Amino acid sequence: MAKENISDAPMPVHVGVIMDGNGRWAKKRGLPRKFGHREGAKTFRKIVRHAKAIGIKYITFYAFSTENWKRPDDEVQAIMKLFDKYLDELDDFLKEHVRIRFIGDRSMLSESLQAKMKRSEALSKDYDIMTLVLAINYGGRDEITNAVKVIAQEVKEGKLEISDIDDRLVQSRLYTEDIPDVDLIIRPSGEQRLSNFLIWQSAYAEYYFTDILWPDFSKKDLEKACEVYKERHRRFGGV
Ligand code: FPP
Repeated sequence: MAKENISDAPMPVHVGVIMDGNGRWAKKRGLPRKFGHREGAKTFRKIVRHAKAIGIKYITFYAFSTENWKRPDDEVQAIMKLFDKYLDELDDFLKEHVRIRFIGDRSMLSESLQAKMKRSEALSKDYDIMTLVLAINYGGRDEITNAVKVIAQEVKEGKLEISDIDDRLVQSRLYTEDIPDVDLIIRPSGEQRLSNFLIWQSAYAEYYFTDILWPDFSKKDLEKACEVYKERHRRFGGV
């Protein structure tokens, strides 16, 4: 493809973002880690707006993993407080007709948080400008394990035959049943791992890594990641 045509190449439909580096951002400034998360949450809001502006249709943020409970209690509490605050702010996105979805195991979250999640999903279910997905208490293995249990139960109850089980059926029992596979995964802060994020959905994803810490991640960085994506030749296992 000629260089001048790159900007005309298709944008990634679904972008996944691992918001990493908040702790280091705070440490560099001699601040407690929770200040990094607070700054990271501001970056989250800015990047959602920009994703919508540049035409991304689905964007998923890894906000809290099934492993993050191992962090010190005060840090976990600070992150939960941020979720609570930002879930209220999601109303601004609702006004812009952004559909909101949450993926992960909600049963361990506070009732107040679960109620807010349910409310924003219900109010926005028919919006289609962009889908904003928040992965909270999410783990890819947990998601697949859960799908296996659901399918096993359906087979046991005679609702499904083993021969009915294929890729599409498994996909339809994941938390992301109504969300397409992820095309591009962005991980800032110099780490180059998937860390249990969208492991089923990333089978053909492209990756974009940068040393920038998440709180410093800018609109330009998002655009750059999309441009790099467009430049890559994606073959889906073909030629
Ligand atoms: C990873 O950085 C970040 C997290 C585990 C929390 C992400 C949470 C937010 C950005 C705040 C709220 C988000 C929303 C959606 C309102 P890290 O702490 O592992 O950073 P480090 O690797 O530098 O220690």
